[in-house]
Amino acid sequence: MNKKEKYRELLQQVEGLIADEHLEVSVLANVSASIKETMGFFWVGFYLVHNGELVLGPFQGSPACFHIKKGRGVCGTAWAEGKTMVVRDVEEFPGHIACSHLSRSEIVVPLFDNEGVMRSELDIDHTEVGTFDEVDKEGLEKICEAVARQLYQRD
Ligand code: SME
Repeated sequence: MNKKEKYRELLQQVEGLIADEHLEVSVLANVSASIKETMGFFWVGFYLVHNGELVLGPFQGSPACFHIKKGRGVCGTAWAEGKTMVVRDVEEFPGHIACSHLSRSEIVVPLFDNEGVMRSELDIDHTEVGTFDEVDKEGLEKICEAVARQLYQRD
């Protein structure tokens, strides 16, 4: 199965998994577990907007930093700019926050509510430079859209 097909299956799996659950912590926990299991990335997790900063949410992988300010690191930059960040080599990203020295590339995808306010972020790290490309970006954005619809865009 190529990467595009893997993401197609993962999206279906995630949609099925979260269909009847609305508690943020539970949904994000299972989504991070599904992505980690299917794609095998080094670290997969969520940061939540809480009291004006990003705080560590459910994740799979080694312990990570609890708090990130807007505009700081890859996560804080994705929040400030309101868009997905793909970092080929974290050592070339000024201000990258190294939670693990093993992380070499990173992708961060924001999740928005129906007023366009960012509520959380998916953050994925991997141990090789250049892991994430357009296929990962598109696949992970679709997953985040499905999760955001379920958690943040209900009436
Ligand atoms: N590297 C991130 C911090 C979070 S860890 O990757 C889990 C950043 O620069 O924002």
